[in-house]
Amino acid sequence: MFNRISIFTGNAHPKLAKDIAKYLGGKISPALVSRFSDGEVRVKIEENVRGKDVFVVQPTSPPVNENLMELLIMIDALKRASARRITAVIPYFGYARQDRKDQPRVPITAKLVANLLTVAGADRVLTLDLHAGQIQGFFDIPLDHLYAINVFVEYFSKKLKNNLVVVSPDVGGIKMARAYAKRLSAGLAIVDKRRNSPDSTSAIHILGEVEGKNCVLVDDIIATGSSLIEAAKALKRAKSKDIYAAVTHGVLSKDAVKKIENSDIKQLVITDSIPLPPEKRSLKIKVVSVASLLGEAIKRIHEEKSISILFEF
Ligand code: R5P
Repeated sequence: MFNRISIFTGNAHPKLAKDIAKYLGGKISPALVSRFSDGEVRVKIEENVRGKDVFVVQPTSPPVNENLMELLIMIDALKRASARRITAVIPYFGYARQDRKDQPRVPITAKLVANLLTVAGADRVLTLDLHAGQIQGFFDIPLDHLYAINVFVEYFSKKLKNNLVVVSPDVGGIKMARAYAKRLSAGLAIVDKRRNSPDSTSAIHILGEVEGKNCVLVDDIIATGSSLIEAAKALKRAKSKDIYAAVTHGVLSKDAVKKIENSDIKQLVITDSIPLPPEKRSLKIKVVSVASLLGEAIKRIHEEKSISILFEF
């Protein structure tokens, strides 16, 4: 397969890119992705890509602007090097939370990033647990949307056998939480969350039965940790048993790790869509890998096979 496809990566998450290439039985293709003395991104693709099906693995995680620019500039270089098709593999799609004009004079950054990727020369996008499914519509090129649900369900179905409730920390997450509840044969509850500011939330009520039950909070992103921690406090007030959290993208900004360590959450399970630097590691945080999911999706895109079949239940 590796004579027809090439996998490249910038500096955002080389480990994940390597694991994906390994799943596919190959190696990452060589590329120089560094900086000029003035800080501009410098890229040189170091193998022939003429006529190849190329995949660039790069989450747009912090440092978001650096990682995004690397991705755009790599796509530009690959296009000019005559790659047949370029797929931007974006395991974490940053700038996604500004996805509508909910106040006067604010941007829609998710749309802007979609435009930038298209103009740079991406032919397709492969991504995972977008903050809002509707972001797919911001692209006029094909986008494959993966879900980490199977990876989390495999983990929790071994760990927590019964007496389980899946909890959505906000109303927007109900659809996903319901899918988890179905697969884990668990109950469903919802937290009535209010966002006070970008970094602060309050959990007002719990809708659903949680008393004496083990709870798994499911969410797409943990950034400051405020949403999860407030939800966990509300679950404790409602006399729940152990509280776990399954969150696809561990952004873990500011002092989120410290807050998790001091919280009612027994374990936070995240995926490796974003690298977890040593200073953010904690005994309370478990990382499960999405490398084989992304690898399988890349294989299927290349072979023009179904992706949705991966999520049939
Ligand atoms: C919100 O709609 C998202 O799904 C997450 O709940 C939110 O982005 C998490 O942010 P934080 O950890 O800062 O509360």
